[in-house]
Amino acid sequence: SKYERIEAFVKGFKLSSTAYKQVMTLLHQEMNNGLKTQSHKMADIKMFPTFVRSLPDGSEKGEFLALDLGGTNFRVLLVTLQGHDIDIQSKTYLIPQRIMLGTGEQLFDHIADCIGKFVSEHNLLSHTLPLGFTFSFPCQQEGLAKARLSQWTKGFRCEGVVGEDICRLLQEALLRRTNCKVEIVAVVNDAVGTLMAAAHVDHNCEIGLILGTGCNVCYMEYLDNVGTWGNEDEKDLHPRQVIINTEWGAFGDNGCLDFTRTEYDRELDTFSINPGKQVMEKMISGMYMGEIVRLVLERLTREGLLFQSADKDCPLFERGRFYTKYVSEVESDTDEFFRHTKLVLEELQVVNYTTEDCKIVKYVCTLVSARAAFLAAAGLATLINRLNKKDMTIAVDGSLYRFHPRFHNLMCLKIKELVKPGLKFKLCLSHDGSGKGAALTAAVSLRLRDLLA
Ligand code: BG6
Ligand code: GLC
Repeated sequence: SKYERIEAFVKGFKLSSTAYKQVMTLLHQEMNNGLKTQSHKMADIKMFPTFVRSLPDGSEKGEFLALDLGGTNFRVLLVTLQGHDIDIQSKTYLIPQRIMLGTGEQLFDHIADCIGKFVSEHNLLSHTLPLGFTFSFPCQQEGLAKARLSQWTKGFRCEGVVGEDICRLLQEALLRRTNCKVEIVAVVNDAVGTLMAAAHVDHNCEIGLILGTGCNVCYMEYLDNVGTWGNEDEKDLHPRQVIINTEWGAFGDNGCLDFTRTEYDRELDTFSINPGKQVMEKMISGMYMGEIVRLVLERLTREGLLFQSADKDCPLFERGRFYTKYVSEVESDTDEFFRHTKLVLEELQVVNYTTEDCKIVKYVCTLVSARAAFLAAAGLATLINRLNKKDMTIAVDGSLYRFHPRFHNLMCLKIKELVKPGLKFKLCLSHDGSGKGAALTAAVSLRLRDLLA
């Protein structure tokens, strides 16, 4: 029948419990490889130590600038900390695609220009401001304010930045383009910012997760387990923990996840700006999920199983036109009227679709997002088991988690199935982790600097 034929084209998204358990075993091994000195260089999962070793204790205060680069929006923020009270003013600026794919100098000049505008609009030109930079890309950190880009991910590919210290590039651009008195005191990843912001209020929180444009996780690790932690003397310092930015989006780059991938995943990868890279991220995150759905819909249409009477020239059949927010919208339909699904199809100028077409579109969205949620869940379960704490809070941020109607529930169900009996966990939305987290990290760093001085 028609439905059996459709099933043949989508069955690859339905993975067994055994498959998810296998993913966990592999992830655990790959994380260990990333942490060990001998295997770190070859490891796909980089497990970068972050130099963030203290979580905020609520005593942080002062005025901070923060930058948030690498998610849906580029923002400049002014964060005022006063104990647990946090006031945030922020402005979003556009980064045109020609800059995302241009040179590093153009990118950092553009960022500096935006900071310059922001500082003068807020009458802060006379202030000396510490800045926390949320830079949501993989970096090898050499200090809290020294971070070398290891590779670009998501939609960015600016020339001349890989291997460079992004703080230096920004500081130089600020000198070239502005007369602001800004000192960069911390660079953090968005996952790290998210964890910092949540740990500020919940002491059981030791994991930060991003489900947005990209997908990444960070957690608190004991220094003894971190072979790549360079400074031996510092091993005696307290606390003996450090936040590890896993960069698990690269899980599978060596082929170990191929048993979970479909033909659609491979096609998406081929046409991406970073083929062969970020295999796990491409199966989960917002930058890619809509496109996977689109590729399936395209295939079903070509096979004559969908949109039989629709126009085959519409934008639905152009790469990148099915946004992940459409997946969320389609899945928010709960009755047979398919109100949101129809709006999405109309936006894509699909005409003459039937109710049955709507049903199939929704089914495909459901399968692709469930696989994403379950893979993320398997990843989290691996970490929860590894940390082995009775109660664990996971701070989560990102547009996919926020806007998808069932992602949270799907993840919770799967994590319950996969964690060791007796371990309790809670997934909590962490609002504006990156903004707050960057400022808090900057504040903690200044507090520690004062302590040592
Ligand atoms: C936001 C942060 O809340 O979450 C960003 O401010 C972060 O810095 C983001 O990158 C992740 O989500 P998205 O969906 O914007 O990529
Ligand atoms: C990508 C980046 C990572 C970031 C994540 C979420 O995976 O490499 O650094 O945390 O996207 O934005």
